[in-house]
Amino acid sequence: MRNFVFDNKTKIIFGKDQEQVVGKEVAPYGKKLLLHYGGGSIKETGLYDKVIESLKAQGIEVFELGGVKPNPRVSLVREGVSLCKEHDIDFILSVGGGSVIDSAKAIAAGVKYDGDVWDFYTGKASISESLPTGVVLTIPAAGSESSAGTVITNEDGLYKRATGHISLRPQFAILNPELTYTLPAYQTAAGVTDMMSHIFERYFTNEQNVELTDRLSEATLRTIIHNAPVVLEEPSNYDARAEIMWAGTLAHNDLLDTGRLGDWGSHDIEHELSGIYDITHGAGLAIIFPAWMKYVYQQDVNRFAQFANRVWGVEIDLNNLEKTALAGIEKLEQFFQSIGMPTTLREANIDDKHFEEMAKKATENGPLGNFVKLHAEDVHQIYKLAQ
Ligand code: NZQ
Ligand code: ZN
Repeated sequence: MRNFVFDNKTKIIFGKDQEQVVGKEVAPYGKKLLLHYGGGSIKETGLYDKVIESLKAQGIEVFELGGVKPNPRVSLVREGVSLCKEHDIDFILSVGGGSVIDSAKAIAAGVKYDGDVWDFYTGKASISESLPTGVVLTIPAAGSESSAGTVITNEDGLYKRATGHISLRPQFAILNPELTYTLPAYQTAAGVTDMMSHIFERYFTNEQNVELTDRLSEATLRTIIHNAPVVLEEPSNYDARAEIMWAGTLAHNDLLDTGRLGDWGSHDIEHELSGIYDITHGAGLAIIFPAWMKYVYQQDVNRFAQFANRVWGVEIDLNNLEKTALAGIEKLEQFFQSIGMPTTLREANIDDKHFEEMAKKATENGPLGNFVKLHAEDVHQIYKLAQ
């Protein structure tokens, strides 16, 4: 096990009706708040009114910036930075999913910086401080509600890039599983795929003797695999929604990668798809992850056989571990298909036109991943395998 520091300050407030406490949670941070949200689902569900009521009850002045799109754009972030600077905002509240939260984090960092916020995503500048943020989560997926990362798309050049800093971890995240009942099945499934992928990124490591985090990861995956079909069948099943929601946070709050080095190549390979084709992040991962696994499994056949056996119940064939490993990847593919995700680029109407360009863009700052280092040619091969 590697040395590690586990430092996740985000206070998790979980359960029914908990959005009502949002005003009280925000109050210690100041009186001027930016309310950040997406394309309108929070107005349709009535959540917007509840949040406003709770904030007003604490005498908090609310400035608003809605309109965050999935694969959030840097242009809206820039607007948010100006708004916060102009009105001397103390706190940013995200009500929504990963896209809203990531956009809020970008604004929070941008407010404390004199240059252009995109500099953080190109590596030209590093984040050192940011405004405090909080979250009312409406979709379990990205795990951004307690992560230190933010992923933003620049319309100019269609770059989707990530950056991070510990100051970006939200102060609190309110997780009420009831708020997820209204999710379309496709978004539920894409969220499930994303949280599973966050575990895969950590699970496939070259670090030896990491049994506790292996077992925690396997348990979290099994819980997701068990409950995903239940929530798709019964969208208002509180117990199953609750399991999925908590799993989504645990998948990405950095507990599961304590003592190990994660990979993250598949996320970078997917970001090129989202950047160019504006595909839903989870759907992109359902296509890329099985292809990545087929490309790299020989790096550690034992680990892939363990994954097949412990997560998918594949019987271990001691005479042919490779067969066991491949059977696990096949089970994963079948699972993604069963929840309505695409598993090939063709299904997402993506042809090979941009393969070379995407492979080059993805690796322009060096090879991807840690489990196996991937150069442009490898990434190109993975896109081909995903066809
Ligand atoms: O915009 P609205 O109208 O709110 O609709 C949203 C959006 O269309 C809708 N939705 C959300 N909650 C709903 C709802 N519809 C009905 N009822 C509800 N309760 O769902 C759609 C998707 O929302 P989005 O925020 O885009 O989803 P998600 O949470 O999957 O976020 C995806 C983004 O997170 C990034 C991804 O790259 C992607 O841009 N990620 C961020 C990470 C991080 N910061 O740590 C890590 C992840 O790997 C991921 O990359
Ligand atoms: Zn993700």
